[in-house]
Amino acid sequence: MEEILNSLKEELNSITTINSLNEIKAKYLGKKGLVTEMSMKIKDLPKEERKDFGQNLNKLKNDSTNLIEEKKEEIEKEILNKKLENESIDINLPGTLVTIGAPSIVEKVVEDLEELMMSMGYDVVDGPELELDKYNFEMLNLPKGHPARDAQDTFYVKGDELLLRTQTSPVQVRTMLEGKGEKPVRVICPGKTYRRDDDDATHSHQFMQIEGLLVDKNISLSDLKGTFDVIAKHLFGEDCKTRFRPSYYPFTEPSVEMDISCHHCKGEGCNICKNTGYITVSGAGMVHPKVLEVCGYDPKEWSGFAFGFGAERLAMLKYNIDDLRVFYTNDLRESKTFDRKEASL
Ligand code: DAH
Repeated sequence: MEEILNSLKEELNSITTINSLNEIKAKYLGKKGLVTEMSMKIKDLPKEERKDFGQNLNKLKNDSTNLIEEKKEEIEKEILNKKLENESIDINLPGTLVTIGAPSIVEKVVEDLEELMMSMGYDVVDGPELELDKYNFEMLNLPKGHPARDAQDTFYVKGDELLLRTQTSPVQVRTMLEGKGEKPVRVICPGKTYRRDDDDATHSHQFMQIEGLLVDKNISLSDLKGTFDVIAKHLFGEDCKTRFRPSYYPFTEPSVEMDISCHHCKGEGCNICKNTGYITVSGAGMVHPKVLEVCGYDPKEWSGFAFGFGAERLAMLKYNIDDLRVFYTNDLRESKTFDRKEASL
């Protein structure tokens, strides 16, 4: 047994790899290993010698196992040390440059408007992007088959009841239903909207609207005009002029297009305003009595105005951007210019 242990020690001393260690382990402790074979001899011994032999054999097993384990640790440590040596960090190497974009300017315009409206007592509310036809169209005075639905080519998700909202106007319905015909309403709702449009410089199948709604007693079109004036001046500067043009939306009566004076040519006429001196930025109007009624507000008692801005359009005008796609392609070369655009205002 002593011989076996000594030759094990010798063999272990001469190796440096886990593979050789495994071979040695098999040679000594494996099924047909030297130590295992030794234990076969016990049955040939006279009874009185078996006890001592057994004890020595156990010691041999333990010692061999320990020696092999120790060697294993030693080899692993050696491997780790070599690895650490090779992987040592060179603190003189230049760092990897992390490219940082800039906050989306559409988001900035939205936040800016939210803050302004909150300062005038408006709440910012949310609505689902996956909407019921009932809220997106029906209760906004756009029954099935209404020709004005064609202007909002719709992504239907399930049958003809569930759709991706084409406008943020359904939030008007949801908010009024919550008010139960008793509470005045004063909200804006920014959010994503979807239409089956082909993407180009001025269209996107997904875009952002900012809806506004105010319902109270004795509200008139002049309240809308005053509110729009404040918004326009806040976004485009104190010398920004506003005007209303008659329009048509099924959910407002009367309906208007709200224009701002062209901040580019200051009303002189240029290609941005198509030589009219004005640019349309929002559809709006007085909430249609039918809409008030289906949403639980008695039109004899209550009146209100509503408006809808296109957030990308506002951002494009404010930051002089002529292609809407820059907001969605996440091209860092473009978004990096957003900060500069902001700074130059
Ligand atoms: N929802 C309209 C659209 O997407 C915009 C709009 C027009 C919103 C008039 C309004 C409104 O709240 O009163 O074209």
